[in-house]
Amino acid sequence: MKKLWGGRFQKTPEKWVDEFGASIHFDQELVLEDIEGSLAHVAMLEKCKIISEEEAQTIKEGLNKLLKKAEAKQLPFEVDYEDIHLNIEKLLIDEIGPVGGKLHTGRSRNDQVATDMHLYLRKHVEAIIEMINQFQKTLVKKAEENVKTILPGYTHLQRAQPISFAHHLLAYFWMLERDKQRFEQSLVRINVSPLGCGALAGTTFPIDRNFTADKLGFDAIYENSLDGVSDRDFILEFLSNSSMMMMHLSRFCEEIILWCSQEFQFVELDDTYATGSSMMPQKKNPDMAELIRGKTGRVYGNLFSLLTVMKGLPLAYNKDFQEDKEGMFDTVQTVEGSLQIFTGMIETMRVKTDNMAKATKEDFSNATELADYLATKGMPFREAHEVVGKLVYTCIEKGVYLKDLQLEEFKEASSLFDVSVYEILDPVYAVQKRMSEGGTGFIKVKEAIEKAKGLINN
Ligand code: ARG
Repeated sequence: MKKLWGGRFQKTPEKWVDEFGASIHFDQELVLEDIEGSLAHVAMLEKCKIISEEEAQTIKEGLNKLLKKAEAKQLPFEVDYEDIHLNIEKLLIDEIGPVGGKLHTGRSRNDQVATDMHLYLRKHVEAIIEMINQFQKTLVKKAEENVKTILPGYTHLQRAQPISFAHHLLAYFWMLERDKQRFEQSLVRINVSPLGCGALAGTTFPIDRNFTADKLGFDAIYENSLDGVSDRDFILEFLSNSSMMMMHLSRFCEEIILWCSQEFQFVELDDTYATGSSMMPQKKNPDMAELIRGKTGRVYGNLFSLLTVMKGLPLAYNKDFQEDKEGMFDTVQTVEGSLQIFTGMIETMRVKTDNMAKATKEDFSNATELADYLATKGMPFREAHEVVGKLVYTCIEKGVYLKDLQLEEFKEASSLFDVSVYEILDPVYAVQKRMSEGGTGFIKVKEAIEKAKGLINN
């Protein structure tokens, strides 16, 4: 089959060589962006009088017909035409005749593909920002319902100090807030037009790059044509931001998985977000949380594979770049899917407040309170730590908790103890008192919820 670029060739590649080199089976994902870019380009060719009004009109009509068919997923793509750009050009020529061949004047597939990807990522990063926003909204709502729900906070996965469940949920709110900011800030670099950089050196045609940039809604143009066609750092930044966000989601998944276990029983996922076992009838598995945790791996993998593809490439375009797409598509799909599932999973999750509260009563997470109590009464904190440590040891020996000790036993440990000690051993008290900025005290958590609300769009 004669290639669109076949002029200088005597032979055509073998079929399997063509197949190996083709990208149409995945880059057809860019079909709408490709046509959108072409419509802007042809309008510019007309405006700069590089082609006639009539020719431009014919090309635009042809492209619009293809656009309709593309939206209805009715375009017949062929491996013989290698990629989305050549397929569209071929279909255009089929549709309107040889004048379709004028579309590619002053343009190369190199600036064309880069343009498509900038358009594609802009659209998806904007969608991802909105999905993060929705997820944050859900977190804030759950937090509002659980300001006074107390559970043990952990360090080293050992019970450490009691905290408000809302405070725990809001920790993820703030991680996602930074993720959202990173995606927002990346738009400055994504929303830049490479169109008009040509193959690598620009073009002799009197084009107007700012015109196409404007038409496509880009805020700026690449200043250097070599850079414009061979920059993929806008994709790497997306993959890196996605990796960071998936890492946050994955940690949250890990907690949900623990909380669903018989050992914790802090939450129960809705049936619609859990699955059963084909063999063990009693099972209710947090599959979706596990899957998001698992999918984090492929996002990291996509980041590393593109970093590795890029590391030795000389300027400007190299065919290696074709490997930039599948990881980007896969990441978009994974990130969008994970955010949507997570939002629904949290929205419908049942919080087992009694079990959480019980856990704070059957442990030593109030030991810091006791040490602080002595320190407030004048004992150096280090000494207080030692005294309470010994009391904890006594409790463990006796198989009881701090609140079960007699007042005499406290007094024996230190004369600074009096009956008010029992009040501070209540985990609710421990949470309530943590009024430092960013702490878990109820009032502070309520303030944090208000702050968080100010950062999400409705
Ligand atoms: N399919 C190619 C890619 O994805 C398009 C650009 C091809 N340019 C070229 N000179 N071979 O990178």
